[in-house]
Amino acid sequence: MKPDLNQTVREIAIEHPTTVRVFESLGIDYCCGGKRTLNDACERAGVSVQRAMDLLAAVEEEASEDVANWTAAGAAELIDHIVGHHHHYVRSESPRLVVMLEKVVSRHGQEHPELASIRDLFGALTQELSAHMLKEENILFPYFEQMESAVSRGAAPPPAVFGSVETPISRMLADHDDAGELLAEMRGLSSGYRVPDSACPTYRALYHGLEEFERDLHHHVHLENNILFPRALHMEQRVSEAANEHH
Ligand SMILES: [Fe+2]
Ligand SMILES: [Fe+2]
Repeated sequence: MKPDLNQTVREIAIEHPTTVRVFESLGIDYCCGGKRTLNDACERAGVSVQRAMDLLAAVEEEASEDVANWTAAGAAELIDHIVGHHHHYVRSESPRLVVMLEKVVSRHGQEHPELASIRDLFGALTQELSAHMLKEENILFPYFEQMESAVSRGAAPPPAVFGSVETPISRMLADHDDAGELLAEMRGLSSGYRVPDSACPTYRALYHGLEEFERDLHHHVHLENNILFPRALHMEQRVSEAANEHH
């Protein structure tokens, strides 16, 4: 692909889903902080712009990667995927990582004081995420599904407790930004999840697990911020237009 420095990282990630791998390898946030131009994002991540351009230019235009398929899927289908795959992952992986963190902090916390800070940040992250996912699963996502079915029937929008969906969406976006900040802090403290040479297997497995967790959360937030939420706003516009025509 031919990268454009003035495009936002999020636009590049949506149009060329295979570039997501490049962003991950460079530690560039393409989801929570994805509204930056490529130029700004490189600066923020401390990455040379030329290197990013070279890597992006080498990305092949393959229509692989789930993000590409999700652009065309229905909201209900996408929600099933987000909850079944990403929410499930957060819930099953968090307790495992918490246990490993405790173990590694108790064994190596003295020589590596950053480990205790990472443990505290991860604790805050998982706590925020569990409340956040419940809001999505119990309120917002069911509403999106009702709206999608109203659109397909040409019916009026379902009654909402929150006025426009913009309100809860902006709250979810703020939560995502907070999560992105916590992840970025953890990445900084761990020097990009680089394990010391002397690290024991648990230490290695922990950093590997935390890096996976970051990657999964970036994918997860990307699907919500850049595909699902814009679609919900668009659906809301359509149902309200349809409702106005009936009057
Ligand atoms: Fe989510
Ligand atoms: Fe979310």
